[in-house]
Amino acid sequence: MDLLIKDKVALVFGASKGLGKAIAASLVQEGVRVIIAARNRKRLEQAMTETGAIDSFTVDLQVEGDGPRIVEKIVQKYGAVDILVTNSGGPPNGFFADIDNVLWKNQYQNLVLSPVEIIRTALPAMQQQQWGRILMVTSVTAREPIAGLTISNVLRTGLLGLVKSLSNEVASQNITVNAMLPGYTKTQRLVDLHIDEEKICGEIPARRLGTPEEFAHLASFLGSEKAGYITGQMIACDGGYLRGY
Ligand SMILES: NC(=O)c1ccc[n+]([C@@H]2O[C@H](COP(=O)([O-])OP(=O)(O)OC[C@H]3O[C@@H](n4cnc5c(N)ncnc54)[C@H](OP(=O)(O)O)[C@@H]3O)[C@@H](O)[C@H]2O)c1
Repeated sequence: MDLLIKDKVALVFGASKGLGKAIAASLVQEGVRVIIAARNRKRLEQAMTETGAIDSFTVDLQVEGDGPRIVEKIVQKYGAVDILVTNSGGPPNGFFADIDNVLWKNQYQNLVLSPVEIIRTALPAMQQQQWGRILMVTSVTAREPIAGLTISNVLRTGLLGLVKSLSNEVASQNITVNAMLPGYTKTQRLVDLHIDEEKICGEIPARRLGTPEEFAHLASFLGSEKAGYITGQMIACDGGYLRGY
């Protein structure tokens, strides 16, 4: 199926590895001109070679204003970001008592304020051209809390409110806003969280972890011309992990 996004410009954050890198590769396959961003320059160079991304920028999304700085440069250079994918490193795990104010604030910047300020900066050019696709990588924790992932359980939920609020404001301008909720997907993140793969697969109806590529196909479709009537949605790619409606 031709997704009709050849030559569109995409900016994918958190794309030097894991889900973001897979999304970048998938969009490149569709003929999209993809720009990737993350903190580590060396990993970005490697990811550019592996994915075929045309440009890359270092950014630290835990620093206020750093995301918008990149968006401004890209809008200046390429005219607009047509397909915007907000994504960053996941928060540390921990129960309520483990988390102090400093960590709450850092992760608020990382998971909530960074997508807000990135989208705010990219939106005017999308509105001008009356076309845009905004995709937020969040987590199944936005819909169903996971014990010990307190920060994720709290902050990801807030982004769903952003999806519902913003999507209604911009739908008539041919701009869609959707959240993608990864379930347990085989990336470095699962290693960092010390996930017991065998145990977790027992809780997933598909009885296996997802692959970054499976998640990336969802992103490419939602980022496409053909998904123009899908907006304000929170779509999980989780092998059936979420049990609720
Ligand atoms: N994999 C899963 O099973 C799963 C499930 C649910 C939700 N998620 C969420 O989905 C997101 C992506 O997960 P993933 O599995 O792809 O993780 P990952 O493999 O650890 O990749 C994270 C990416 O984000 C970049 N990054 C990390 N901190 C950053 C920062 N402060 N500023 C800019 N870039 C930053 C990393 O590159 P640098 O280190 O070079 O910056 C890397 O490119 C995370 O928020 C994660 O919590 C993942």
